Amino acid sequence: MTDYSIPQPTSGDVVDLITADHRLLEDLMRAMRDESADRDAARVAFADLLVAHSEAEEDNVYPKLKSKKVIDGEEEEHGEKEHAATNEALLKLLQAKGTDTQKFEDALEAVAEVLNHHIGEEELSILNPAREDAPETTRQELGEKWLAKRNQLLESGAGSIDNVEAIVKKAYDDGLLPNDDQPDE
Ligand SMILES: [Fe+2]
Ligand SMILES: [Fe+2]
Repeated sequence: MTDYSIPQPTSGDVVDLITADHRLLEDLMRAMRDESADRDAARVAFADLLVAHSEAEEDNVYPKLKSKKVIDGEEEEHGEKEHAATNEALLKLLQAKGTDTQKFEDALEAVAEVLNHHIGEEELSILNPAREDAPETTRQELGEKWLAKRNQLLESGAGSIDNVEAIVKKAYDDGLLPNDDQPDE
């Protein structure tokens, strides 16, 4: 059986570390598309990594880049909104009971659409400026802080359906998702 365990480094340049995670998320999306793969194990790893990765960006990377004027408040909020949209799509993927169903594949394609868009935009409008404008020491320092949070979230099972549900609800409360889309409870 394929091993989808997620590496947990503890130091590095934040730009390199984040882009490496993006490639890992893309690999896991490919595994979830593959009928011959253990799609459920890939989904568990994907959910944990996606949530841990994004929450740690919001806590430890975006605010620091904003305070250093590498990105502005608008770029930060745009990133947070895309995280919220991705988490909402992830919730539907987690709610699909089986993995060999049309429901699962449709939910997966919806996740891929928002996540691929976000990865592209983050690499272009946040990571490129960080590489260019943040000094090496800052990138290393941010790498360490981001990993500490990411790894702690990974250990706590950040991608559980209950946690993702709570995160999506909070995103609605914070106005990061349009309210007319909120599903009836
Ligand atoms: Fe990212
Ligand atoms: Fe992100």
